[in-house]
Amino acid sequence: MTGYDFSAPFTFGVATAAYQIEGAAAEGGRGPSIWDTFSHTPGRTLGGDTGDVACDHYHRFASDIALMAELGVNAYRMSISWPRVQPEGTGRLNPEGIAFYRRVLTMLREHGIRPVVTLYHWDLPQPLQDAGGWTVRETAAAFARYAAAMAREFGDLAVDWTTLNEPWCTAFLGHCSGVHAPGVTDPATSLLVAHHLNLAHGMAIARIRGELGSRARCSVALNLHVTRPADPDDPADVAAAERIGTLGNDVFLAPMLEGRLPDALVAATSALTDWSFVTDGDLAVIHQPLDLLGVNYYSSNVVRRRRATDPRNSGGHGDTGVSPWPGCDDITFLDPAGPLTAMGWNIDPDALTELLVGLGCRFPGLPLMITENGAAFPDGADAEGRVEDVERIGYLEQHLAAVGRARQSGTDVRGYFLWSLLDNFEWSWGYTRRFGIVHVDYRTLRRTPKASFAWYRDVIGSRVLTI
Ligand code: NOJ
Repeated sequence: MTGYDFSAPFTFGVATAAYQIEGAAAEGGRGPSIWDTFSHTPGRTLGGDTGDVACDHYHRFASDIALMAELGVNAYRMSISWPRVQPEGTGRLNPEGIAFYRRVLTMLREHGIRPVVTLYHWDLPQPLQDAGGWTVRETAAAFARYAAAMAREFGDLAVDWTTLNEPWCTAFLGHCSGVHAPGVTDPATSLLVAHHLNLAHGMAIARIRGELGSRARCSVALNLHVTRPADPDDPADVAAAERIGTLGNDVFLAPMLEGRLPDALVAATSALTDWSFVTDGDLAVIHQPLDLLGVNYYSSNVVRRRRATDPRNSGGHGDTGVSPWPGCDDITFLDPAGPLTAMGWNIDPDALTELLVGLGCRFPGLPLMITENGAAFPDGADAEGRVEDVERIGYLEQHLAAVGRARQSGTDVRGYFLWSLLDNFEWSWGYTRRFGIVHVDYRTLRRTPKASFAWYRDVIGSRVLTI
């Protein structure tokens, strides 16, 4: 048996996102977002599911926060729905939306739960999309103004600010493979979008610090990819894995944390763009000091140089016939070896340790935070309404141990946010994939803590993981 110590001040939290849980899509003065439009477009989500009702958290936030208090978390990673607080994406704020988040943040504080606020978890106000969305630079400026407004409105209640959640998904699932809103399938455009997201991040941090100074702790949450070559002795496979690392990680890490546009990125995408949209001064704007780097991790990939007979595989993100990896058509994602989660993703906790240790070496002095980790399994409630989600507990145990190992080797990992508190709207998969440690009955909206809830409560209570 091995024990991992997570003594205070290690942060234990849970994470959610506005569109996935709030519902109340047309209430309280909220405007439409690109996910409303996308999910209401036939064929875009499984079963035509939408976030109209979701978990109805908008009306049930008090009991959801009570659940968190029972769980014992000391932090909660949540997102603000931009179209709820600023329906046009620019200009006037919606007082009802502001009041809603003030109530949530105040109640969290009353329970001693520290909010970690994500400003963009994919729900761009539709009017901004109509004006070009992330393909136009002006959206980055609008995001920075919105970030400043949120810092002004909520700076007395929140210290931790995360600019973007998984910009890789916005750029490449949203604009290259098109499995996410706004559903664009244009590889060249996705690279332009990636740059505008980088800019949005940097401009927003400057504005938040302008409002709150050193009272604000700023971060971004990246879904960093661990990609292994099918044959580590084959230089073509090794180069393929490196290219996925460039397109999956360095496209954001290098500009945000090193102020540079990697040569390997420019080379890999030269058939699509010359990057002339990166203008003088952009990299300096993007390169803002971060207080923390948020890491979202679920699974790893194995790739190889494409063989003529290789079937297509999108790397676990759904399929529109266009890959989410611009400039990588000569790379094959192999079907992952089992065991798999309900997403079809592999279970590879060692990759999390490697990722964290690697980041610690590359960015010394930058604290890391697991801003998401968790798993979907097809868990159903038994006759008594209990969910014995032993597979999820196994997954969580292994990944928390992986974090523990990274810490033991000296990597500065400050906390762990489990995805997710509740079963919720899993984007294009609709409600068919359940990540929660609390089961949600979508007919009655009743919440039932799963066995993993009790497991997590015990880990948090003892601050030791023994496996
Ligand atoms: C990443 C996203 O941030 C979150 O919204 C999603 O539900 C989980 N991963 C699971 O796919």
